[in-house]
Amino acid sequence: MKALVLSGGTGTRLRPFTYSMPKQLIPIAGKPVLRHVLENIRECGVTDIGIVVDARDRHIAAAFGDGADLGVRLGYLRQEQPLGLAHCVALAREFLGAEDFVLYLGDTVLPEGIGTLAAEFAARRPAAQLVVQKVPDPRRFGVAELDADGAVVRLTEKPDRPRSDLALVGVYFFTAEVHRAVAATGPGPRGEREITDAVQRLVTEGAEVRAAEYGGYWRDTGRVEDVLACNRRLLEGVRTAVAGTVDAASRLTGPVVVEAGARVIRSRIEGPALVGAGSVVEDSRIGPYTSLGRDCVLRRAGLADSIALDGVTVDRVGGVHGSLIGRAARIGPGDGRHRLLVGDDTRVEVAA
Ligand code: DAU
Repeated sequence: MKALVLSGGTGTRLRPFTYSMPKQLIPIAGKPVLRHVLENIRECGVTDIGIVVDARDRHIAAAFGDGADLGVRLGYLRQEQPLGLAHCVALAREFLGAEDFVLYLGDTVLPEGIGTLAAEFAARRPAAQLVVQKVPDPRRFGVAELDADGAVVRLTEKPDRPRSDLALVGVYFFTAEVHRAVAATGPGPRGEREITDAVQRLVTEGAEVRAAEYGGYWRDTGRVEDVLACNRRLLEGVRTAVAGTVDAASRLTGPVVVEAGARVIRSRIEGPALVGAGSVVEDSRIGPYTSLGRDCVLRRAGLADSIALDGVTVDRVGGVHGSLIGRAARIGPGDGRHRLLVGDDTRVEVAA
């Protein structure tokens, strides 16, 4: 079995971050979303992985290279425009050949992995096996209607009036039968070639299409609130590990990771929390569910339920929470008035 991971797209809901990096590289609990995805794929024994990337993006290939560090073989497929998930499969036709494959959306977080799902697919090998989960509002997802036996009877992409509450999680297993259906699928109402429509075509043609309900945690990290929710969930799994230094005047409670070269001085950290390599936390308070990237500096600062990317400085500002702070951003006091240097589509909420 091979894997096709989709990491192109525009990421408009995660601006301003996606102006400078693909959304799949936003770190969650210290690791890019895409790394979590690749590790899940490797854990079910699949090592031949194609990644669809935006043709202009250089960040993803720079971060993962040929995959040797992860123990997998990575190839990159460049997509000129985000023309849809089925377009991505068509683009990868040659790479996939006649093999079964798992299609995995690169912004999908499933901390419990996909091992059981992969085994189920391998045992039965239907033309398509989808993964679904009940959601309160299915309108922003592909929606599946199933019969009592788990066979898919109908699929609809982002319906206004959903006929079921089963949303398509971004993982799909296919045999090579899907390629014919993909080739016959043109753009849908939102202008994209939808994988949902290609699979519906298989259903209509009478091919076996099944869906397994996923009982574990699932989040699509398309929005800031989802990124922070995933960070909370993944941090819950960390165990205390201190490779850096923590002075005697500091106090750590709960699981806290202090990576190599990081220094914690006269500070309080309430876990679960992660302090990235080379960061300095001085006279500060870090609340639960916070991840700091590498080389961040917090001085007399307070940060909780947040993610700071690499190189962030927070100086003498307390009470920061529920925040996603981009690379090398600096937050600190000025001359007594507010002075903002904020990029396009940035959101600033002050304690007024
Ligand atoms: O999250 C699950 C949902 O994912 C499913 O329920 C929907 O049926 C499915 O269509 C998809 O909907 P989204 O609107 O969330 O898809 P999004 O545009 O966010 O793209 C998903 C991933 O695929 C993301 O990592 C970007 C990548 N992508 C997307 C497009 C449209 C590409 O690489 N190329 C593309 O052309």
